[in-house]
Amino acid sequence: MVKVNKIKDNIYQIRVIDKENKNFHGCIFPVIDGSSYAFYLIMDEQVTLVDTIDDIYYDEVLPEIDKLLNGRKIDNVIVNHVEPDHEGSFALVMKDNPQANVYTSKAGIKAMQEQFFKEYNYNVVGYGDSLNIGKYNLLFMETPLVHWPDNMWTYLQEEKILFSNDAFGQLLVDDVVYDEELDKDKLLKYSREYYANIVMPNNKNVKALLTKFANVNWDIELICPAHGIMLKGYIKDMLAQYQSFANNTIIDNKALVVYESIWGNTKLMAQSIVDELVSKGYEVKSYQLSKSRISEIMDEMMDTKLLVLGSSNHNNCILPPVADFLERVKATHFENRNGIVFGSYGWAKIPFNDLKERLAAAKFNILTEPIIVNYTPHQEEEKTIKDEIAQVI
Ligand code: FEO
Repeated sequence: MVKVNKIKDNIYQIRVIDKENKNFHGCIFPVIDGSSYAFYLIMDEQVTLVDTIDDIYYDEVLPEIDKLLNGRKIDNVIVNHVEPDHEGSFALVMKDNPQANVYTSKAGIKAMQEQFFKEYNYNVVGYGDSLNIGKYNLLFMETPLVHWPDNMWTYLQEEKILFSNDAFGQLLVDDVVYDEELDKDKLLKYSREYYANIVMPNNKNVKALLTKFANVNWDIELICPAHGIMLKGYIKDMLAQYQSFANNTIIDNKALVVYESIWGNTKLMAQSIVDELVSKGYEVKSYQLSKSRISEIMDEMMDTKLLVLGSSNHNNCILPPVADFLERVKATHFENRNGIVFGSYGWAKIPFNDLKERLAAAKFNILTEPIIVNYTPHQEEEKTIKDEIAQVI
């Protein structure tokens, strides 16, 4: 469904709400409600498009763009980010508007040349540059590696609007136009899961960006992200939440017990571990990977101090869902976290050191040797598991 929202007399948001698309950002992040993608059109003396959209939606959005253009051509295309969900239809836009000037970061041009194999009227912009399009002036700021090297923001000075692309997005899929129409906690919760999966791997850069942003003196009344809902009433709350994430705020007594279990024995071990952690005052959440949504687990990982990770032995290897989870953990670059590994085996204990080493390679401080049980944990072994946990937490 395409929705055009008029922001000002001559500024429009064009947003696709795709409730069937339950894999956000390509195939990586399973989401509950579907996906949303937005870009913006400024009808000034020079018609300026701020980003485009995934080409799978281009046929849907083109009639809406044409209606707004009403016979005019696009003079400028601002490319805040070259990932295909935003610039997938760039070449199609340029086919109809070959004379248009393209404004993007230095890293953006390089990435576009590698994707579109054609020279356009590229212009490098960055902090300190501005573009007059008639009544309005656009200012730029590179936001490198939040979350790709090419990311930048565009600021419409006269209307105090920040076009932030991926930054400040949320996984919200809702017909409302502005944040104030929603419960604040709900919006921030959807922003958090988005951050955990999209931005957290580059958390250090967010801290630097927020420091820089605090000094640029851009007064902001509206944030227009490329995903989710536009921010008007909860801007301060969103910035405070980003600052908290960037500060790597961790809850010392929060633990996640994440595991996969083939025949239920590792699951029994997980339950003993949860019971012990709860009895010691931990706030604990437990997830069996095959029955859980990985994006939600990554969200919970954001402020978790202790990860207890379990796998059964599967042909002398850890189970594939555990390996997948470990790759995500490694890519997220968590800091100051503790880890314990556990699992049940049948006739060989082989994979548990591998599990421990992989978690250590993800920079977790491993608190103890793997806690392992042969086949089903009996009563005495359950007590041993609890004792081993109690000794190291
Ligand atoms: Fe929504 Fe990095 O693309």
